[in-house]
Amino acid sequence: MNKDRLIQADRNHLIHPVSAWRDHEETGPRILKSGKGAWLTDIDGKELLDGFAGLWCVNVGYGCQSVVEAATAQMTALPYATGYFGFAGEAAIELADRLAALTPGNLNRVFFSLGGSDAVDSALRFIRFYQHARGTPEKKHVIGLTRGYHGSTYTGAGLTALAAFHRNADVPLTWQHHIPSPYPYRHEGDSSDAAIIASSVAALHAKVEELGARNVAAFFCEPVQGSGGIIVPPAGWLTAMREACRALDILFVADEVITGFGRTGPLFACEHENVVPDMMTVAKGLTSGYAPMGAVFMSEDIYTTIRDNNPPGVAVGHGMTYSAHPVSAAVGLAVLDLYQNGVLASGVTAGKRLATRLDAMRGHPLVGDVRISGMLAGIELVTDKTLKTKPSPELGISKKLAAVGYEEGVLFRAFGDDIIGLAPPLCCSEEEIDILCDRITRVLDRVGADIGR
Ligand SMILES: Cc1ncc(COP(=O)(O)O)c(C=O)c1O
Repeated sequence: MNKDRLIQADRNHLIHPVSAWRDHEETGPRILKSGKGAWLTDIDGKELLDGFAGLWCVNVGYGCQSVVEAATAQMTALPYATGYFGFAGEAAIELADRLAALTPGNLNRVFFSLGGSDAVDSALRFIRFYQHARGTPEKKHVIGLTRGYHGSTYTGAGLTALAAFHRNADVPLTWQHHIPSPYPYRHEGDSSDAAIIASSVAALHAKVEELGARNVAAFFCEPVQGSGGIIVPPAGWLTAMREACRALDILFVADEVITGFGRTGPLFACEHENVVPDMMTVAKGLTSGYAPMGAVFMSEDIYTTIRDNNPPGVAVGHGMTYSAHPVSAAVGLAVLDLYQNGVLASGVTAGKRLATRLDAMRGHPLVGDVRISGMLAGIELVTDKTLKTKPSPELGISKKLAAVGYEEGVLFRAFGDDIIGLAPPLCCSEEEIDILCDRITRVLDRVGADIGR
């Protein structure tokens, strides 16, 4: 198909994820053709620096031949192997084995899903199985954070606390609850690290008390909130929440779908504070977006409790046709090799450069806050820095940012609530980080001039 026909066919038939359907039919798609390293080329040959690694997933960058070759070899040898009925593929076994050695503490057991949403949904099911197995079936309630994102399945959308996912969706479900996000920039009152941590711990205790401790199963959080606007909690927050969960006898689940696989520096963000969750969900960087795959890791205790409660011959009823897909697993192995042979280290170096450059942007008239953890960053825009005033919706800032960004040859996430999200591929050189930040500064200057700032 030529470009015009592609655009028309897209408008007519393709439903895009989390999109305004009416707007999309009017504007049509921007079609991407190819990628190399941190760079994309669109259908018109325009080059774009991808400051968002696709959808915070292409951590190793585009065009990695070792990954392509691993997928090709697996497709050629065996494109599909079911995990049902006792069958298995080699790649998935090897990936499980290597990851079990790398995940925090005793998160030794892994269930492979197709992406992050069904990893979260699987975690919620395993939590139910566990509480039943343990003899505490009344522990059904689950608590998350406001501004949290945990995917788009029915249950995940309810645990998510973003309005777009609740609208007309009849979620959150009755057993899903939220406590305030640890949001330093907009924290009211004492905004010291200690005060923010104390208020999250107090909010968790209060919510558990309100629901009844014997009724609460688990607390979910992202170590850095991603889709909620890249909110980096103070150092010590994760540890404090983990400890609070232990004290309250509720499971602590770290959703590392974005933060996993080097996005914040170490392989998993929990490693910053040596936190060992009871469960951890991952996706995105697991395969760097080259093939769909997610995973739920569970502690040995959760695994054995579920196992020992099921009589011999009785299945634990959870699975999907494409769980542990061999091609995705082969891709996962190749990507893990890249992380361990330089990409993680490259991300740490590039992250330092990104932090320096973003820090220098704090003086820009539109920039209210900059927050960063490794190669994950947010720039929050305001029209009055002292009052932290959000730009009025009529200014249509996020649409302008995305449009001007494209013209300037840079891709980033322009969140609806005036926050720029950055998650460049970890393979970026320091020079590429400079180009990224130069272009973003130009975008801010142009949008600022457009709205008279
Ligand atoms: C923290 C978190 N959990 C879950 C998901 C859902 O993952 P997926 O889009 O692969 O279903 C996402 C996606 O961005 C995420 O950021």
